[in-house]
Amino acid sequence: MPDDIIINNDRFTLYLSEEEIQNKVKDLAAQINRDYQNKVPIFIGILNGSFIFFADLIRQVTVDCEVDFLKLSSYGDAKISSGQVRLLKDLNCQVRGRDIIVVEDIIDSGLSIDFMKRLITKENPASFRVVTLLLKKTVAKLDFPIDYVGFEIPPEFVVGYGLDYAQKVRNLRSIFRLAPRESGASSEKD
Ligand code: IMP
Ligand code: MG
Repeated sequence: MPDDIIINNDRFTLYLSEEEIQNKVKDLAAQINRDYQNKVPIFIGILNGSFIFFADLIRQVTVDCEVDFLKLSSYGDAKISSGQVRLLKDLNCQVRGRDIIVVEDIIDSGLSIDFMKRLITKENPASFRVVTLLLKKTVAKLDFPIDYVGFEIPPEFVVGYGLDYAQKVRNLRSIFRLAPRESGASSEKD
């Protein structure tokens, strides 16, 4: 896999390698395995972005667990959030009295996870925690803690490992970030 890739005329550079990601996934799962001994949590994946992280994480989980998914939309095909979260697919499981672990690929503005938290906690779960692979801490506006964080990253646009750019490149095994525009280059596309 090259260190630089071009998507829709934008250049992206390697940011987190497959090995770094897989090591982090194992760390996160180890913390969860320790914290949920003798419990049967429900892992709730937020589609689409979290599907690869979710699949890797769950295979490192050794406690009994269940899974479900819900689908939110806020980005469309853009690189910045539209600021509006919509529920595109609801849960199928009973949340009441259960230990819920929401699995996110990335927390950016915090709008999606805030929406999720309100949606789930109103059903009275026994507990509610969040695991995210990536957190853009400087931009996330959150009034609750994120329990398990893989990497804190600067507020840059990243792709790969489930994260898309206009629905593409989710299948990359590593994570890439948007490269800064070279000064003097005529790379304007807007
Ligand atoms: P938030 O609501 O702004 O926190 O954004 C959360 C969702 O937006 C994530 O679950 C991703 O699906 C998407 N997202 C946020 N930042 C990025 C990014 O850098 N690349 C790709 N998708 C992103
Ligand atoms: Mg997402």
